[in-house]
Amino acid sequence: MTKINELEKEIRNIKRDPIPKRTDEEIYKLVGELISKMTLEEKVGQMYQSSFEGAAITGPEFDSSKVVDYIKKGRISSLIGLSDINQIYNLQKTAVEESRLGIPIIFAHDIIHGYKTSFPVNLAMSCSFDMQMIEDMAKTLAFESSRSGVNLTFSPMVDLVQDPRWGRVMESYGEDTYLGCKIAEAYVKGLQQDDLESYESIAACVKHYIGYGKSEAGRDYNTVELSDRTMRQSYLPQFKAAVDAGVAMVMTSFNSFDSIPVTHNKYLIRDVLRNDLGFDGVVISDYTSTNELIYHKTCRDEKEVAKKCIVAGLDIEMVGECYSDYLAELVNEGRINSELIDEAVKRVLYFKYKIGLFDNPYKNIYSNSEKYWLNDKTREKARDVSRKSIVMLKNDNSILPLNRESKESVALIGPFVDSKEVLGPWSGFAEERDCVTVLEGMNCQNSNLSIKYAKGCEVTTISQESLDEAIKISENVDKIILTLGEHQVMSGEAKSRTSISIPDAQIQLLEELSQLNKPIIVLLFNGRPLELNYVSEVASAILETWYLGTENGNAIADILFGVESPSAKLTMSFPRNTGQIPVYYNSFQTGRPFLANDPDLAYRSTYIDSANDPLYKFGFGLSYTEFEYSNIKISKNEMSKGEEVLVSALVRNVGNYCGEEIVQLYIEATCFSVIRPINELKGFKKIFLEKGESQKVTFTLRESDLAYYNCDMEYTPENTLFKIRIGGSSVSYLETDLKFNI
Ligand code: BGC
Repeated sequence: MTKINELEKEIRNIKRDPIPKRTDEEIYKLVGELISKMTLEEKVGQMYQSSFEGAAITGPEFDSSKVVDYIKKGRISSLIGLSDINQIYNLQKTAVEESRLGIPIIFAHDIIHGYKTSFPVNLAMSCSFDMQMIEDMAKTLAFESSRSGVNLTFSPMVDLVQDPRWGRVMESYGEDTYLGCKIAEAYVKGLQQDDLESYESIAACVKHYIGYGKSEAGRDYNTVELSDRTMRQSYLPQFKAAVDAGVAMVMTSFNSFDSIPVTHNKYLIRDVLRNDLGFDGVVISDYTSTNELIYHKTCRDEKEVAKKCIVAGLDIEMVGECYSDYLAELVNEGRINSELIDEAVKRVLYFKYKIGLFDNPYKNIYSNSEKYWLNDKTREKARDVSRKSIVMLKNDNSILPLNRESKESVALIGPFVDSKEVLGPWSGFAEERDCVTVLEGMNCQNSNLSIKYAKGCEVTTISQESLDEAIKISENVDKIILTLGEHQVMSGEAKSRTSISIPDAQIQLLEELSQLNKPIIVLLFNGRPLELNYVSEVASAILETWYLGTENGNAIADILFGVESPSAKLTMSFPRNTGQIPVYYNSFQTGRPFLANDPDLAYRSTYIDSANDPLYKFGFGLSYTEFEYSNIKISKNEMSKGEEVLVSALVRNVGNYCGEEIVQLYIEATCFSVIRPINELKGFKKIFLEKGESQKVTFTLRESDLAYYNCDMEYTPENTLFKIRIGGSSVSYLETDLKFNI
């Protein structure tokens, strides 16, 4: 290993000549030449992603003692989770200079919602419905990562989610497939910038293929039951969108599909992903999900794991060593065809050429990388994304925005007011010390308000002393701003909950404060939809702020003071109670539906102790201003194959502020050969309207927007009448008819 001083000099002297743009044919020629020189063991080495000391771990502990030796023997393709630039440089140098063929290593990491500049968690960001902004955010993330030694991020995660008990919903884009596709595309574009050779892009790996979000009972890593139709209809399109956007890699998921774990599911990898979607990039397993096949009891031992996975089409094994230990043996025993190995190695080497590692193995290694991270510009971007991710759920009597000229007094109460622990799970290398708290953000707003602060309670515990202090401060103020929610460690991977309630200590604090009869403005901090019945009863206003990342406090203060009107809309419905889960806007009609005009009708698909609907539905979110929808028009009422229709509505800002509105287009098939959702999002546009301004918003509806997998598994609209809806949420819209004729 090179000593630190020399090493810094070497890193400083890394040349950054442009990486040549080669045609696929040229790359495959180079790959073919290289493969012809490789031993079987070296080939198998290209199918192993190892961990190393200092790496982030999301599974069983890892023994790194043999890693350097393996690198010298050409037995490691890629390393996961490293962040020390000197260590990365040294390991790459060992691979390039000390292994027989000098094949460079890929350095991969989970950069999910920002590297040093932390943006809001993904579920929050999705509420912005702002694709350009998400693409720009991904560009910033890629740029910062590209200066940190990272070549590849395990992102975006496009799992469809309907169960907020699952801790990973914060990493997702919510419950809608159409929106998920748009975000997948924007995210991949932002990361890869259609230019994998560039020094500023990094490669994307879309995950988790497929169905992981449907883990039974919301318990992480649990069994999944999903029909082929639902998989193709609702879960696959997001992966197709990522593949069509050129995503370099796909990660398989931990779960099973149709009783076969995805990691060795030949149907899913070879038939669906490779053939149907045409994906020809690298397929990687999830962290030790290969070894876990033994626990799934679909493989007896690691040798069988290696055989089943390679036959299924898995190219790289993440951290598990079944391939390293047994693939060569299986080939030598004639139990698998060596062409299977060549096929996988070809894809891995193609990837390494494509991202320029053969031209510059030190491509993303920089000295003083700090100077590329977190600056005023990236902070401003993060602040903007954060403002646009906050969803206002309630605002009685227009209590918000606060008036900065007013001499009123405000009490800031709750465990998140002065907390920097709000970057959210998977916050990359962002540091809490860089995070702006709500208290700091409020104090920077130059207002005449008199601001007082008391914590009131911890996230899960409360003492009489802290409660008394909060009450004392709140007694004499005009308004209370109360922060409630989950600690960030309560969501994320392996953080499933059986109840999605706010911890009792905080509810007690709310109960006590509500006795003071002051207006309470609640700010929520959470990675998943929470049960908000009680909160929604007693609070005058509710802002869902999620975990906003580095610029948390500034963005929240901007919204509280009306620097910008809230514009985000929920992308995951908020159940009334845990027992309703799963509850989502695009549910299916039943044979005995609840009838609003006859709510007491017996023997209906209802609960005796709860309404059917979620408390807050997908697409819902308030603004300081008000938008009025009128004049829905359709260019024709009948449509045939290959045709398009235009649907429009007039949106008018009738409130007292300027603001952005997310105009949404939904459809419903009134009859079909299989049951379809009662509402399906098929378009959205974000518009800005000054006070009093109006705009005609037009959508184009195509045959594919009306199509669905029918009873013969054909993707078609069928001969039917559709309800076409335009509105500001999935519950409030204007409607017109469209008949489709095959
Ligand atoms: C997660 C993946 C992640 C991987 C590597 C796994 O536990 O499921 O999403 O990319 O760890 O950190």
